[in-house]
Amino acid sequence: MALASTVWDANLYLKFADARMRPALDLMGRLDPANAARPGHAIYDLGCGAGNISRILAERFPGAPVVGIDSSEQMLDKARSQTADKRVSFAKGDLAHFKPEAPPSILYSNAAYQWLPGHIDMFPGLMKLLPSDGQLAIQMPRNHEAPSHALMHEAAKAGPWRDKLKGIGGIARVEEPARYFDVLKPLSSALEVWETIYQQVLTGKDPVAQYTSSTGLRPFLEALAEPERTQFYETYAGLIAKAYPTRADGITLFPFRRLFIVARRA
Ligand SMILES: C[S@@+](CC[C@H](N)C(=O)[O-])C[C@H]1O[C@@H](n2cnc3c(N)ncnc32)[C@H](O)[C@@H]1O
Repeated sequence: MALASTVWDANLYLKFADARMRPALDLMGRLDPANAARPGHAIYDLGCGAGNISRILAERFPGAPVVGIDSSEQMLDKARSQTADKRVSFAKGDLAHFKPEAPPSILYSNAAYQWLPGHIDMFPGLMKLLPSDGQLAIQMPRNHEAPSHALMHEAAKAGPWRDKLKGIGGIARVEEPARYFDVLKPLSSALEVWETIYQQVLTGKDPVAQYTSSTGLRPFLEALAEPERTQFYETYAGLIAKAYPTRADGITLFPFRRLFIVARRA
């Protein structure tokens, strides 16, 4: 299967919007509406992508301005073109150096910080941006030990592209839940850390490889030119099909572990 583009492919990502929406909503369910109603404060959606969740945050918390931050122009263009609500704005920014323009009452981030190496050391700084009782809410995939991610490295070693893919780590390591608890506890008046394994229901050809090619597989694909990019993708897709077989009903179940953190500023 040829891949038209390996930049953040907003359309490919949105194809899986439903499966990816569920954890975003589960995280949102732990936000305190009292925070969203703080005058002069904004809700930030950090790593907002195409803005799907930013718009839902604004619907769920009427009255609060929502600011989506992302480093990808392509995602921001898509977000702006799809957002009519004037309370929602988008700005380009690197989460590694995030400085809010308006004071935040909620710092929300769905499936973004796993891209930043050393993100755990940034979380205390985020907490310090919040007022007392403000909330930091973060969701990250923690599936790097599952075959979907382990087989990226196996496929990377299994062809003439070996040297070009050496050292590509893919998604930065997401630590054990207790590590986040320990780092945030001194700054929190309430702290929840939990994991959920979602049994994602996928259909179609190469469903798991298609899923990861818009996220964790992306750095590997970007490092290769055609025809090696497609050859590498097909090697990975072959390995992954054995690990996640398609059932007689055409469904492929893709178990996916995600880590959630909700901290209330002391
Ligand atoms: C998997 S998408 C999630 C998008 C959105 N939060 C959602 O749930 O639909 C991850 C997003 O993080 C952004 N991102 C990755 N590293 C970033 C960084 N250092 N600074 C800002 N955004 C970043 C990517 O551009 C991408 O839009």
